[in-house]
Amino acid sequence: MAINRNILTLDEFTIQEMRAFPLATGELAGLLRDIGLACKRVNVEVNKAGLVDILGDHGTTNIQGEEVKKLDIFANDQLVGVLRHGISCAGIGSEELDDIVIFDDETSNKSKYVCLFDPLDGSSNIDVNVSIGTIFSIYRRVSELGKPATKADFLQPGNKQVAAGYVVFGSSTMLVYATKRGVNGFTLDRQIGEYLMSHQNIQCPPAGKMYSVNHGNFFRYDQPVKEYITACQKKDKSNGGPYTQRYIGSMVSDVHRNLIKGGIFMYPGTIDKPGGKLRLLYECNPFAYIVEKAGGKATNGKINILDIVPTELHQRTPFFVGSINMMEELESYLFAASKDAAV
Ligand code: AHG
Repeated sequence: MAINRNILTLDEFTIQEMRAFPLATGELAGLLRDIGLACKRVNVEVNKAGLVDILGDHGTTNIQGEEVKKLDIFANDQLVGVLRHGISCAGIGSEELDDIVIFDDETSNKSKYVCLFDPLDGSSNIDVNVSIGTIFSIYRRVSELGKPATKADFLQPGNKQVAAGYVVFGSSTMLVYATKRGVNGFTLDRQIGEYLMSHQNIQCPPAGKMYSVNHGNFFRYDQPVKEYITACQKKDKSNGGPYTQRYIGSMVSDVHRNLIKGGIFMYPGTIDKPGGKLRLLYECNPFAYIVEKAGGKATNGKINILDIVPTELHQRTPFFVGSINMMEELESYLFAASKDAAV
């Protein structure tokens, strides 16, 4: 098979991007490479997931005598391990861990960046072969370089992200990441073990035909959210419809699809859980950043997700993200309701 040398690898692309900044140190490119490497290892295990039942249950010992770990724990350990040994990250925060991990060694203390991630989002879908993914978010430290990172480095609003991305383990494995220069996607070529540029300069279509929400919670949503969902269902050709409902229950897959094809994803608060389910730092901020850099928008229903100043590592937020025109229509319902309440 002829190899097309016109296609950039992830490493080639990040180095090329770096050269546009004469003062760049290459740390960000190194960090993206490390995340990509950890995700290649996760990819191998995700692809074997169907065999776990015949090779041994989670928590038992496999035929090589190794403990079979839950995949989300495995993914977490890979990311922590690779980033700890790399030279570009001063510490991490993970959805799987109660607290941040500061690497605190001479090299790491000099690193400019900290990284937050959800190691395996949608992991409750693994048993049924549904696409899942890793989400990551990178911040420049606010603490003094040369000293250990601090919690303040992690509790920054999403608009301070330097880069954010995800890897979707689907029919193919794809790494998508965003910086202020735009959003690009790379598909893993399993034969050569490299991520190859497949989606250059991703732009989220301003409108789409899909809305993604858990309809099972419909009667527990606020009235304006119910009204917007009902409006989605009533759409016909005269107002941009008909819309289609698509909800995988694996946000990486749902938002990836909407990013490429246009659409809106919603995880609103409910009567019993007004803060919703999704985590601001590990899930919502990275996706809000990616979709915004691709021309879309994200809100918690009141303010832009990226403007929320976090107070806790694991805080949750209602989350609405997607194509700009669809988001503006949603906001016309949400904001009209808040104006009525204020009168
Ligand atoms: P988990 O990682 O526990 O499987 O959660 C997945 C997240 C997100 O990816 C998805 O959109 C949402 O939870 C689905 O939640 P519901 O089942 O409540 O709709």
